Amino acid sequence: MARRRARRFKVAVVGATGVVGRELVALLAERGFPLEELRLLASERSVGEALEFGDEERRVERLEGRALAGLDLALLCAGEAVSRAWAPAALAAGALVVDTSAAFRLAPEVPLVAPELNPEALEDLGPGRLVACPDGAALAASLALAPLARAAGLRRVVVVACLSASHAGRGGLAELDQQTRDLFNFRPARVERFPHQVAFNCLPRCGPFEADGATALERGLADEVRRLLELPGLPLGVSMVQVPVFSAHGLALHLEPGRPLSPEEARELLGRAPGLRLVDSPAEERYPLATEAVGQDEVLVGRVRADAGGLALWATVDNARRGAALNVLQIAERLARGPLAR
Ligand SMILES: NC(=O)c1ccc[n+]([C@@H]2O[C@H](COP(=O)([O-])OP(=O)(O)OC[C@H]3O[C@@H](n4cnc5c(N)ncnc54)[C@H](OP(=O)(O)O)[C@@H]3O)[C@@H](O)[C@H]2O)c1
Repeated sequence: MARRRARRFKVAVVGATGVVGRELVALLAERGFPLEELRLLASERSVGEALEFGDEERRVERLEGRALAGLDLALLCAGEAVSRAWAPAALAAGALVVDTSAAFRLAPEVPLVAPELNPEALEDLGPGRLVACPDGAALAASLALAPLARAAGLRRVVVVACLSASHAGRGGLAELDQQTRDLFNFRPARVERFPHQVAFNCLPRCGPFEADGATALERGLADEVRRLLELPGLPLGVSMVQVPVFSAHGLALHLEPGRPLSPEEARELLGRAPGLRLVDSPAEERYPLATEAVGQDEVLVGRVRADAGGLALWATVDNARRGAALNVLQIAERLARGPLAR
């Protein structure tokens, strides 16, 4: 008897030339996603640009209405404004939309999904539905906190997130690069995207301040972690710092569990949780580094220790790959095996 051919899908990556979009295109090739067609979309600026797709080169096309026709999946990686403007058109065209921006992360009717934590949120989705992805720092914090929360509960968490320049996209990377070169060549650093010189500096401000002195990104991290962990009342303090690192965030997490949790038990829980890799041998100078997180598919966690009656730990995450593109791809893979295959 002839076997039914596995379904293949028409997919668009919107924002394919960006930091997240490029990672996503690479992952689609690397993990052999079942593609019938791949459309790489961006603005007028990048039309015709060649992007690597495995061993091939693919050309970038303009994001416009007809580029969204007939799609199974629209993967949006072009920022909040583009998501707000184009998600409705992609949905109306019948695509299932996965969005990496902040536009819909807190909308109650839109599931915020990290497949390691809440894959069941994808079960009832179908064409014309929207899925939001968390920010990379929120995803890393949630993956690290989830096994501890499940085992012991959480009373309170404080997160200090040190954001890499790639968090601010290609423009952020280019500015850190240019400032570093300028300063090494005794030229003044030109400041455009960040509020101050970011090279050789740490800025206690990621995004504009709000009336209470916090930033939308800080508030977003707290809200997204609460949503992913399904702990709406969790007291969660956040400070974000822009650091002069090109790729990979670092996060200091301080937590008060619901019952006493020893560092040994926490290490054991973290060591077998999905999406995490325990790197914790301080005597051998082994702990999570930004440089070691780059290109990895796990959040690295370590320096697990008792702290002020609770626990402290340090995590690093490749914000573009693990923190964004891989989450999108894992969602797409599950949809391809489940709701889209039916
Ligand atoms: N970077 C991270 O670590 C990270 C992590 C999690 C989530 N995210 C989210 O992912 C999204 C993309 O971030 P990114 O860092 O990849 O940004 P990026 O490097 O600045 O890339 C932006 C992409 O969007 C495209 N684009 C911009 N305006 C457009 C328009 N009007 N029409 C069509 N395409 C347009 C750009 O295309 P052109 O080449 O034509 O300009 C480029 O491909 C953002 O929503 C961000 O919040 C980022």
